[in-house]
Amino acid sequence: MSTAALATETARRRTFAVISHPDAGKSTLTEALALHARVIAEAGAIHGKAGRRATVSDWMEMEKARGISVSSTALQFEYESCVINLVDTPGHSDFSEDTYRVLTAVDAAVMLIDAAKGLEPQTLKLFQVCRHRGIPVITVINKWDRPGRAPLELLDEIVDRIGLTPTPLYLPVGSAGDFRGLLRRGPDGLPAEYIRFTRTAGGATIAPEESLAVADAAEREDEAWTTAAEESELLSATGQDHDQELFLAGHTSPVIYASAMLNFGVRQLLETLTRLAPAPGPRIDVGDRPRPVTDPFSAVVFKVQAGMDSAHRDRLAFMRIVSGEFERGMVVTHAQTGRPFATKYALTVFGRERSTVDTAYPGDVVGLVNATALAPGDTLYVERKVQFPPIPSFAPEHFATIRAASQGKYKQFRRAIDQLDAERVVQVLRNDARGDAAPVLAAVGPMQFEVVTARLHTEFSVETRLEPLAYTIARRTDAGSAGELDRQRGVEVFTRTDGVVLALFSDKWRLQYITKELPHLTLEPLVAAA
Ligand code: G4P
Repeated sequence: MSTAALATETARRRTFAVISHPDAGKSTLTEALALHARVIAEAGAIHGKAGRRATVSDWMEMEKARGISVSSTALQFEYESCVINLVDTPGHSDFSEDTYRVLTAVDAAVMLIDAAKGLEPQTLKLFQVCRHRGIPVITVINKWDRPGRAPLELLDEIVDRIGLTPTPLYLPVGSAGDFRGLLRRGPDGLPAEYIRFTRTAGGATIAPEESLAVADAAEREDEAWTTAAEESELLSATGQDHDQELFLAGHTSPVIYASAMLNFGVRQLLETLTRLAPAPGPRIDVGDRPRPVTDPFSAVVFKVQAGMDSAHRDRLAFMRIVSGEFERGMVVTHAQTGRPFATKYALTVFGRERSTVDTAYPGDVVGLVNATALAPGDTLYVERKVQFPPIPSFAPEHFATIRAASQGKYKQFRRAIDQLDAERVVQVLRNDARGDAAPVLAAVGPMQFEVVTARLHTEFSVETRLEPLAYTIARRTDAGSAGELDRQRGVEVFTRTDGVVLALFSDKWRLQYITKELPHLTLEPLVAAA
């Protein structure tokens, strides 16, 4: 493929993830996006948990019929001239380091907020990772068809709590619970159009839209329109108009009010993604040099999933392509070991269903089978050598000791823990007092512990005992502070495998007390530590 053709393919790509708290409507929005992109014909009244599987399997049928790739990790579809990759953030009960790692594979994020609940804890945590990595964020305020807060109050909360300036592109006409349509704001912040929605049965099909001129809108909707127009003016007065540069720099966030369930505002989100979200760009390598998208193939592994198929006991590594054209069958080099890796089995995956990928471009996500040597953060390349910086370890909040149930299995146990540590399934912490027989596991979400014990059992035949520890907060410290910290009540110091010294605290009061009483000690927060 010529460089120009490769650049064109890359420029068409939009790779993003949805960050949200459970129940904000991520699955419903995913379905609605697929519906709008005509990946699925009907959302089949399948909003909600019980029926979701059925919808997803519909996608599988669609995939076979139309060659669209769907996976539990990435949903790819075309919208207008763009190829959109929606990378899934596992974010429900299985909230884990994987959730954060996904954000290293995207170029933009959609922050999905429930109009009645506002910013919720998981959204805040994920937002901090986006901010840290400089990922631009588009905000969608969902469930506007239900009673909720006032539109500007929700925006104020975003400013006050996370210091992000919301710049609505569309304002709701009608208060929460009475969603009639959207006021589109022009580049000057003035009302430019009224998009009136019509409900469809159960929100199963695309909601018909009617475009009205501003002059007609006032007549049609009366007070609801006037209120929206006034809100638009107020926002302009405070400078809350879209600015592409500030958005890309992560200072402002375009906002869309929506109802994923009724498919209102979903087309507007797709347009915002295609028009405003960035296409894949060069990635900085360990030597601080950018790898241009038109260079020979390179990719970063951001997630490794083991044992998806118990019959095959395989391990799948998902990579995000950084540069070049990927062709299945290509032999690539694993930068960490210098060894060749054959990509004969390159897939998109959904559950047990898999389909082969033949070519892919920067921004795309591809799963590699039998990827035993690959760990999150690893680099693959051809021709021109490159290595990208490792994915940072994120602040753990759950801690437990683990030991082999029987002494006889100790050697296997140690080997297994080292292996899982290398794969970055969980963080492993050690200190002299506890010794090696019972290392401490540290996780972002408790599901990571279950993965560890299950894999120790099935892959290594080691039964283990896990005992939760009463620590809830970790801070980065250093060798100079370690001794004094370790002597404090409710504190314990460890070294993580990557050499970082961590102090664990029972609770935030303990941490506050020690910070105040012993201000000379080094204690730094670990949010997505670089
Ligand atoms: P999640 O993936 O973020 O956890 O959210 P999910 O899509 O499962 O949505 C959570 C609940 O919120 C679902 O209701 C879903 O129908 C509802 N929901 C999502 N978007 C909207 C929206 O725009 N408007 C309204 N009114 N509701 C929305 P549920 O009670 O779990 O299921 P069901 O009874 O609706 O089937």
